Parts: sequence; structure tokens; C-alpha cells
Amino acid sequence: MKKVLLIGIGAGNPDYVTMQAVKALNEVDVFFFLDKGEAKRDLVDLRTEICERFITNRSYRVVEVESPARDVSRPSYKSGVHAWHRDKADIFGRLIEEELRDGEVGAFLIWGDPSLYDSTIRIIHQILADGRITFDYEVIPGITSIQALAAQHRIALNTIGEPVHITTGRRLNEGLPRHIDTAVIMLDNGSGLRALAGEDVDIYWGAYLGTPDEVLVAGKLRERVDEIERVREEERSRKGWIMDTYLLRRNPDKRKDS
Ligand SMILES: C[S@@+](CC[C@H](N)C(=O)[O-])C[C@H]1O[C@@H](n2cnc3c(N)ncnc32)[C@H](O)[C@@H]1O
Repeated sequence: MKKVLLIGIGAGNPDYVTMQAVKALNEVDVFFFLDKGEAKRDLVDLRTEICERFITNRSYRVVEVESPARDVSRPSYKSGVHAWHRDKADIFGRLIEEELRDGEVGAFLIWGDPSLYDSTIRIIHQILADGRITFDYEVIPGITSIQALAAQHRIALNTIGEPVHITTGRRLNEGLPRHIDTAVIMLDNGSGLRALAGEDVDIYWGAYLGTPDEVLVAGKLRERVDEIERVREEERSRKGWIMDTYLLRRNPDKRKDS
């Protein structure tokens, strides 16, 4: 039986790699690296560095493929994502079928944790549901960008006994949900931040968390939003891509319904 490992490698710092991930890395015969659009070589390079640093006792092969791009011209975001996942399932299925021999272990190294805004687990489920090939698979958790953000700002994620809302920049165009005091926003192209610029909330923002390029900004959103937008643009043009995440905290007394 073939086996596929989905290994969370943490969101940026090679030191985020867990002992469980190191053990898993050392079982792998074939790594599948996906070259992903905007962040391209930097993210592949980090994966290469992780393999070189943590794999001590065996030889392995690396197969690099170009990740398919999402068709942004589709009328609905969700139908575009479904079609994109279908394309990825075809590519991943072919990799597992053609590049992995019976009894071998293959691995996808997942940025951060495989359970958080990452489609690989769903794609593996889809390949198995198609029924054309069979294999075993395992998920190894990793440190998320949310944990990195909280740690770097030295804050707790939740206020006492209260929930945390995790969402995307796209969703922020609908505003911060009424009963939510703390929200973490990922995958924002900048529009979500701008949509909320007038809200009376604190922001803890971080870009390239855990890497040598890390930038942190914290304070009242209204007072910091221009600075964050400026830094975002400068960093994006300097590096060619940006990955940022932020936490918004509303003073519970200032909720719209209070
Ligand atoms: C496709 S999601 C993947 C999330 C990942 N699975 C995790 O556990 O953090 C990518 C988004 O995660 C956030 N992100 C990931 N790594 C980051 C980092 N090092 N610094 C800041 N944000 C990061 C950004 O919001 C980015 O748009």
C-alpha cells in the first residue's frame, strides 16, 4: 500500500517544525513540491531548507510541479474554487499514481497547518472518493500563522471565555459580525482592512511572520490603517508577494448591540 503524509511545516520559521513532523519527514521517499503563483520560489526554497535540515537518515526524491491557477473569471468564487480543486485532484492523483511505488511514502509539505485555509485534505478526500487509486494517508499538524501572530505580538488569542472568529478579507466587506469581539483575518488582498478602517477596534497585524522579513504593527486600527497599507505596498513591491494576517479586537463595551 502507498502512503501519503500531509505534513504541517509551520507558517514561516523552520524552527516551527515539530518533532512529529521531523519523524514524518524522515519516513518520506518522495516529496511533492508545488510551485505556487505569487510566492513561488521563496516557499519552495523554505521546503527545500526544511528537508535538508531535518532529514538525516535517508535519501529521498523531490518532484516539483506547477500548481494550477484558480480561474478568477468564473462568475462565483465558490464554483471557481471547486473547479480549481478538481484540477489539483487530477494532478495530485497523477503524482501519487505515477511517482510513488507500492510501499513507498509520499508527502506534501503544508504551509502552517493542513486544517486551516488549505485545500490539500479535501483534495485527498476527493481523489479517494473518485475510487481510481487507493492509498493510506496521515495528517501531521503544524504551527499556524494565527499562532505565530499571537506569539509575536505576545497576546492571547481570545478574551476571557469569549470566542474567536476566523475569517477571510473577502468576508470583511460584510463588516465585523455583531457579537464578535475578536476576529482573525487571513487571505486579505487589502480590501477587508480598508472596509473596516472606520471601526473602533485594536489591530495586531503581521506580515511574513516567523521569517527574517517579519513586520509587526499594533494599535488602534483607525490610527494604524494608513501605515499598514503603506508597509503592505512597499513590502509587496520589494519582495513580489506578501502574506499577512491580523487580529482585530473590539472593546466589548463598544459592540453595536450594547
Ligand atoms: C492559504 S492560507 C494558509 C494558512 C496556513 N495553512 C496556516 O496554517 O497559517 C494563506 C494565508 O495565511 C496567512 N499566512 C500564512 N503564513 C503567514 C505568515 N508567515 N505571515 C503572515 N500571514 C501568513 C495569510 O493570511 C495568507 O494569506
